[in-house]
Amino acid sequence: VEWSAAERKIVADVWGKISIDEIGPQALARLLIVYPWTQRYFGAFGDLSSAGAIMGNPKVSEHGKTVLGALDKAVKNLDDIKGLYAKLSKMHYEKLNVDPDNFRASYLLADCLSIVVATKFGSAFSPEVQATWQKLLSVVVAALTSKYF
Ligand code: HEM
Repeated sequence: VEWSAAERKIVADVWGKISIDEIGPQALARLLIVYPWTQRYFGAFGDLSSAGAIMGNPKVSEHGKTVLGALDKAVKNLDDIKGLYAKLSKMHYEKLNVDPDNFRASYLLADCLSIVVATKFGSAFSPEVQATWQKLLSVVVAALTSKYF
């Protein structure tokens, strides 16, 4: 994957304005609420019985931060996201098993993350910014699922 200077700048700008502690919990909670079948992967997380329970669940918040922490590493290693995520991909594959639903869920999580970020940024989330942001997320999802095939 090639990153132009303009794209690198956009990624750095967007990421610089993101609070992992704020956006991470919101994005994961949104995934679990909007696409409730993804809850089945998180059986160990306790009460996910309503939107309120999900948003107030400390394990959801904690894991949302963990996921964004992984994204932080990707942003800092744009040129080798696949190598960076090799172990993480294997872990998702072995832990969650090969399942097209899980594969699709990664795209759904990426969408939830985009919506949370767009909501926060408002008009600053221009089409150009969105295009680069989505490129980043698709590289991340491809790397995360690379061990599935
Ligand atoms: C664990 C990142 C997508 C389910 C993790 C961990 C990270 C991570 C960093 C912790 C790894 C460790 O303990 O060493 C990501 C990223 C994703 C993603 C960057 C996509 C952008 C998903 C999706 C699902 C999922 C779509 C299922 C719907 C899980 C589960 C765990 C986990 C169940 C273990 C949680 C626990 O019990 O602590 N993920 N993940 N992940 N992930 Fe993901």
